[in-house]
Amino acid sequence: MTGRPYVLLSCAMSIDGYIDDASTERLLFSNDSDFDRIDAVRAGCDAILVGAATVRRDDPRLLVRSDRRRADRVARGLPPSPVKVTVTGSGDLDPAARFFALGDGAKLVYCPGGAVEKTREQVGEVATVVDAGDPVTPEAVLADLAVRGVRRLMVEGGGSVHAQFLAAGLADELHLVVAPFFVGDGRAPRFVADGRYPWHPGRRARVVEVRQIGDVVLTRYALSDRCDTA
Ligand SMILES: NC(=O)c1ccc[n+]([C@@H]2O[C@H](COP(=O)([O-])OP(=O)(O)OC[C@H]3O[C@@H](n4cnc5c(N)ncnc54)[C@H](OP(=O)(O)O)[C@@H]3O)[C@@H](O)[C@H]2O)c1
Repeated sequence: MTGRPYVLLSCAMSIDGYIDDASTERLLFSNDSDFDRIDAVRAGCDAILVGAATVRRDDPRLLVRSDRRRADRVARGLPPSPVKVTVTGSGDLDPAARFFALGDGAKLVYCPGGAVEKTREQVGEVATVVDAGDPVTPEAVLADLAVRGVRRLMVEGGGSVHAQFLAAGLADELHLVVAPFFVGDGRAPRFVADGRYPWHPGRRARVVEVRQIGDVVLTRYALSDRCDTA
């Protein structure tokens, strides 16, 4: 696929590889400095994608928090925050979720043809609902985003969407943060589920940066030749 957006995956996990716990409360892995780093990465992207389960469970804002970074974007002719993107098969999305309710920028919801009607009923007033074919694939989402002018996409999870971009070989870079604690509960979600991924013991990914940020560690992996190694 040529001309697809650059895809940057971002994830934070525990030492034992969990990206949440099994409770209903949102579990925070990053510290303030790392959240500020994530804010800078967001500000450098045209769009941010999360799965519908993350919209429902974490109720994220997905806005650039820093006044300076928002002003910088506006000075460059961009909206203050990136376009927000989600994917759903069920159409079970709440228009009052912060994903939809906060920020004046565009919100895109990709779903299979059979879910378009229900999804439009749910969030058609607050988002653009796109029929992405059945099944919805990362390729189809990226192709549509490219047409909409998205050149750099940040995928913030959860595990289901990360797994799909990784398995499809459509990730250029991974930012993986490890927080200094264990979750230790097999009911909690892991970074990705079982699957066949392009990086395995016979084909190792390339580490381009390791950085300690307070009490967490960021590792940046290059997953394609497009990755900027600076
Ligand atoms: N630590 C971190 O960095 C981080 C970041 C983000 C999220 N999380 C955690 O991740 C967990 C959620 O992860 P998850 O894997 O369960 O869910 P997810 O990836 O956030 O969302 C999965 C949902 O997205 C929709 N979806 C995904 N791919 C689709 C496709 N190809 N076609 C149609 N719909 C599709 C489906 O929505 P429908 O169910 O509506 O059909 C699916 O149930 C939460 O516990 C959250 O806290 C952690």
